[in-house]
Amino acid sequence: MSLQDRLSTIRDAAVSELMGALDLPALERSKGLFLGPEGRFTALIKELSALAREERPLAGKAINAAKQELEALLAEKRATLERTASLPKEAADFTAPGRRRPLGRLHPLTLVTEDIVRAFRRLGFAVADGPEIEDEYHCFDALNTPSDHPARDAQDTFFIETPGRPLLRTHTSSVQIRVMETMPPPIRIVVPGRVFRRDNADATHNPTFHQIEGLYVDKGVTLGDLKGTVEAVFKDVLGDDIKLRFRPHYFSYTEPSMEIDFTNALVKKLGKDWLEIAGCGMVHPKVFETVAYDPEVWSGWAFGFGIERIAMLRYGITDIRLFYENDTRFLRQF
Ligand code: DAH
Repeated sequence: MSLQDRLSTIRDAAVSELMGALDLPALERSKGLFLGPEGRFTALIKELSALAREERPLAGKAINAAKQELEALLAEKRATLERTASLPKEAADFTAPGRRRPLGRLHPLTLVTEDIVRAFRRLGFAVADGPEIEDEYHCFDALNTPSDHPARDAQDTFFIETPGRPLLRTHTSSVQIRVMETMPPPIRIVVPGRVFRRDNADATHNPTFHQIEGLYVDKGVTLGDLKGTVEAVFKDVLGDDIKLRFRPHYFSYTEPSMEIDFTNALVKKLGKDWLEIAGCGMVHPKVFETVAYDPEVWSGWAFGFGIERIAMLRYGITDIRLFYENDTRFLRQF
């Protein structure tokens, strides 16, 4: 075989070897096989001297051209392999969601509300809603709260000076009436919502805050059901090491009425034995009569929790105003 023929065989072999290299070490090995001191290409160059003098220039030129071609190919392949070497080894799924830190997060009051609602949903309660701008009937009268009751005092309540004198609801109990007006019993609802009272802001008070109302109406509902339900939910939301105490109280829409006191290690740390966190009781027969439920057939209980109180207990927050300032240094911690 002529030197020219062997050159083209070796060149073809070198091209396919270089192009087939899968990584940088393989490429260097292939290079050595052809262009290294013991390489097939180098051997060919050595043969030049054995050729007749007049044949050398042409053969030399052909060898040089092939060598340059291979070196260019080598450089190109090296650049490609270097680029892919820095890529991830596994295929990337470009449809996967991003891993960037989310720009926003839920407010602590939202987190606590969602947890309480979730705990009640597990027990079969549905979520109901009602207006923040209420009328006196749903906020007071229908709840057996007479017009001379102190809760209706202009000092305690924001009235709107338009016909009908609507007001900002002072509690979510108004939604009990709205739900019973529209649905026959049995009823099992919770109502998270915002309420308003004329109060000066301090560490534990604010003119607007949030409550969760609960209402359960069925045949043969007892106070024992109320205690069991409330205890299960508080343990779910605030942990098993909590204690509740039911203390006699007065609300015009329940009879008997109670306040619920709460304690755990954190309450003790705050230097208190008990913290009052809710009002509750058995729905007053007069309330049932107002919504045309027969109190001889139906019985029920209701409660109202303050959400801020529960969030403060859960997170160890000692100033209620932090919830409303929207200071991102505070909010980022939840
Ligand atoms: N509405 C009361 C308050 O705002 C809380 C409350 C007490 C709600 C007794 C109830 C209840 O449903 O039965 O302080």
